[in-house]
Amino acid sequence: MINGIKESLENSKRRGKKQAWLTAYDYPSARLLDESGIDLILVGDSLGMVVLGQKDTVDVTLDEMIHHLKAVRRGVLRAPVAVDLPSHTYDTPEQALESARSLVAAGADAVKLEGPLPEVIKALTDIKIEVIGHLGMLPQHVREEGGYHRKGKTVPEAMSLREAALSLQKAGCCALVLELVDAAVSEQISRELAIPTIGIGSGPGCDGQILVTTDLLGLQPWFRPSFVKPKADLATPFQRAVKEFIAETYALEPPSLP
Ligand code: KIV
Repeated sequence: MINGIKESLENSKRRGKKQAWLTAYDYPSARLLDESGIDLILVGDSLGMVVLGQKDTVDVTLDEMIHHLKAVRRGVLRAPVAVDLPSHTYDTPEQALESARSLVAAGADAVKLEGPLPEVIKALTDIKIEVIGHLGMLPQHVREEGGYHRKGKTVPEAMSLREAALSLQKAGCCALVLELVDAAVSEQISRELAIPTIGIGSGPGCDGQILVTTDLLGLQPWFRPSFVKPKADLATPFQRAVKEFIAETYALEPPSLP
């Protein structure tokens, strides 16, 4: 387990160093990310959508997160590994403690949880579990919200985001993910916090950026969030290689019998 993530992140922010974070769910991608120099690897509960083929993240279980976290952990030597607490595994401080302890035991350096829940977060940081907060669009609440909607567009919404961000910092978070937050609001929050803000679809004014690696690499052409600019189109060489293999296999001549 890496110690002092919070101090190190705050130092980086003071020095103006940006954070580049990506997700991983298995050994090879975790190892490739780590060897590429990524600042932090998140075993996101986006697992549900990009690995398990579910329609959202809501039904991901703690056991599934542990299973994938262990695979990621085996591939990472350098970067901190954070993991999402899945939906309904932190409904009370007691439940959060039990869930987070099992993730730390499986190799997590930090846990991430969604929403303005300073009491739950404090219960974890009090026993030295590193916690990353997550505000703005909260994917675990997508069903109640009826979709992925941008946050902070009105003054009351911007004010409540700011209040929540300050309360999560006070509760001891080491960083704060801002998802689909109005760019001016994320920039303002980033200026006010000592801990880094990590944006996803929240504009350039955050202290770092995170993406789902599958989106970055263009591995799921059937679904691309509007704010993602893929850096590759890996679905194409993937399918080309598979088609070549199929064609070569079909063309194989059986050895002639003596
Ligand atoms: O589950 C996830 O992948 C996330 C994002 C912030 C990338 O929470």
